[in-house]
Amino acid sequence: MDRLFSHRLPWATAENALARAEAAARAAGRPLLDLTVSNPTQVGLPYPDEEIARAFAEAAASPYQPAPFGLPGARAAVVADYARRGVGLDVNQVVLTASSSESYALLFKLLGDPGQRVLCPEPSYPLFEYLARLENLTPQPYRLRFDGSWHIDFDSLNFTDAAAIVLVSPNNPTGSFVSGDDFDRLAQLAAEHGQALIVDEVFADFPLSPAADAVTAVAGRPSPGLVFSLGGLSKSCGVPHLKLGWMAASGPAALVRGALSRLELIADTYLSVGTPVQLALPGLLQAGAAIRRLILERVQRNRHALASALGAYSPCTLLPAEAGWCAILRVPETMSDEAWASALLENDGVLVQPGYFFDLDEGATLVLSLIAQEQVFAEGVTRLLARVVGI
Ligand SMILES: Cc1ncc(COP(=O)(O)O)c(C=O)c1O
Repeated sequence: MDRLFSHRLPWATAENALARAEAAARAAGRPLLDLTVSNPTQVGLPYPDEEIARAFAEAAASPYQPAPFGLPGARAAVVADYARRGVGLDVNQVVLTASSSESYALLFKLLGDPGQRVLCPEPSYPLFEYLARLENLTPQPYRLRFDGSWHIDFDSLNFTDAAAIVLVSPNNPTGSFVSGDDFDRLAQLAAEHGQALIVDEVFADFPLSPAADAVTAVAGRPSPGLVFSLGGLSKSCGVPHLKLGWMAASGPAALVRGALSRLELIADTYLSVGTPVQLALPGLLQAGAAIRRLILERVQRNRHALASALGAYSPCTLLPAEAGWCAILRVPETMSDEAWASALLENDGVLVQPGYFFDLDEGATLVLSLIAQEQVFAEGVTRLLARVVGI
């Protein structure tokens, strides 16, 4: 078997103890309060189904229209959506993909040779490990450090021979936008090393309270080197099932041209974005505005409820966040974050993610999804705090 299959992933990753305990609880029919939910279509939000159906009405009868970078009307709709956020882009800078995960895959093919390293932030969403390895690249973490706000630890960045640098802004789960100083320094260093920046901005549409120096949109910002900004319907419109993402290339014109001509060949090889979703895109982006508002209101209400429940003298600390769908709660270090998560699952029927899932290194932390239904969230938080106080 070992010679039959590739070694790009360690396929036999054992299920962790928490996942096993969750599966056992579900198999036993135990009701769980799920504060890990990340699927916005399953948290009881009233989606504008008719508007979404109308957006697809004409698309369904359309013939197949292959276009490596996407149909002109759909790319123009993405440009108009960036304009909503005050970002000016040209349609030629925009490439459509099936998701932001696919954008990463195309960019890793464009930028990396097998065996090269990709610099990825830690803490962050545990996705890059797989995306990089699937392209035969080696993810190498660099640290974000917390001193009341999150900063890039530049000493932990090793640019030598790296294929590309990934930046996530706002980062998941820290909810931190990159600061202007950090971005400019990173962009300068990447350009000096002849490396491209891949900036994941999928949560940029969910600002809570950005710091004064936060870069709330990297797309369209002048940069000395090649920069790709990633976005997509999955988060910005809460419709991950419709499978449409995009990236915007910017930087010196010759580099952008060189990148796009190669990227066109890669995208043409797959042609993975469906014609109907592209034709529906202008209508979907409109319908998505209402979903985005619902999600943002949900996130704000749950975050507020959590802060209120903690009060002034709680043994737990809610880390500040500028954006995103998560809350990071620091809990007493009387036990590990994994032990806290297990205790909550076993004793209280509350499902939370331990901070180590995201390589958080800030004491014992738990990550809570702020898109969970409000009653579920409130009850989960009540049980969580009762456990913390009771120990
Ligand atoms: C920071 C970040 N980027 C990208 C993705 C993947 O998004 P998509 O559904 O567009 O592939 C996720 C998924 O949660 C994410 O957290």
